[in-house]
Amino acid sequence: MPIHNAKFTSFGSYVPKKVITNFDLEKIVDTTDEWIRARTGMMERHYAEPEEAASDLAYIAAQRALEASPLKHRDIDMIIVGTVTGDHAFPSTACILQKKLGMKNIPCFDLSAGCTGFLYSVDVAKNFIENGTKHNILVVGVEILSKVTNFKDRSTCVLFGDGAGATIISRTERNDISRIIDSVMYADGSQSDLLYQPAGGSRMPASQETVEKNLHTIYMEGNRIFKNAIRSMYAAVDELLRRNKLEAKDIDWIVPHQANIRIIESLADKLHFPMNKVIVNIEKYANTSSATIPIALDEAIRDKKIRRGDLVILTSFGAGLTWGAILARF
Ligand code: UT7
Repeated sequence: MPIHNAKFTSFGSYVPKKVITNFDLEKIVDTTDEWIRARTGMMERHYAEPEEAASDLAYIAAQRALEASPLKHRDIDMIIVGTVTGDHAFPSTACILQKKLGMKNIPCFDLSAGCTGFLYSVDVAKNFIENGTKHNILVVGVEILSKVTNFKDRSTCVLFGDGAGATIISRTERNDISRIIDSVMYADGSQSDLLYQPAGGSRMPASQETVEKNLHTIYMEGNRIFKNAIRSMYAAVDELLRRNKLEAKDIDWIVPHQANIRIIESLADKLHFPMNKVIVNIEKYANTSSATIPIALDEAIRDKKIRRGDLVILTSFGAGLTWGAILARF
């Protein structure tokens, strides 16, 4: 039994100003608006400027989450950033974010779990709160995927966008209805080569050749990822429901990772869950990896779709392979 309960206190998000439509992509790669819309549900995505890095987006999202909460900067006692496109290989983007926010003497670290980075980070934060070690943890999901995209590969370059979403996970009273109830997280490293960035790490350090061959960009076997994503997210959600003696009809909202509208619709279909209770914003931002879920949550709360007391499931799938689901009452 945990000593304390943890809850989502507030959210904030930010996407860069530059909008890239499907029609813009038609001009640089052999694709069409019709194909992208029909096969993915995406219409536009946002790209960072050359001088913008992950911590710049994370900073604005974090400030917005802080402003939406009753907390002060000094109340935050840990920062976790879920990202695979941090400012540098090291130090962590969380440390750079700490500097920008003017926070001192707290632990800060990044968490790499592909598109499941935000859910993994929330799960780690939940455990630090529940065991009584921390009170208020800033969790950010942020990516600048446009900078690791191969614009010669039409099967991947149309899919990704940039953005950041932040939340504060706080200790809460036992009689507070709002709390993160349960979570399941999984990985299957045996399939790590289905979605990865081949060069730039210690396996294949940067060289003239790796740059010429575009090996610092995203490699993905889309079809195999597609099937895995539906199967794994369904299994995670199903496990959470069974373990908590719930049925899909008891859930008010599902907030899934936004990688492909067909994945989202198949998941809802398998769960017998109505699409009008699934939060979808893929048409505006495309796949922002670890940022999709916190951006979607921030918007859904500000639009007064998700309200206090609602029972919500978050679920994601990504590189690793990693996947998971979280059950929370907001
Ligand atoms: O966030 C992490 C997890 N990521 C995901 O979950 C992504 C999962 N995968 C997907 O969403 C889908 O597999 C894709 C959107 C990547 C691809 O969709 P698909 O329906 O699986 O297409 P496909 O790869 O089977 O390709 C079908 C056709 C091919 O042409 P031929 O061989 O049938 O002539 C592709 O060359 O579509 C072609 N194609 C394109 N055509 C126009 C692939 N990309 C494009 C494109 N524009 N951008």
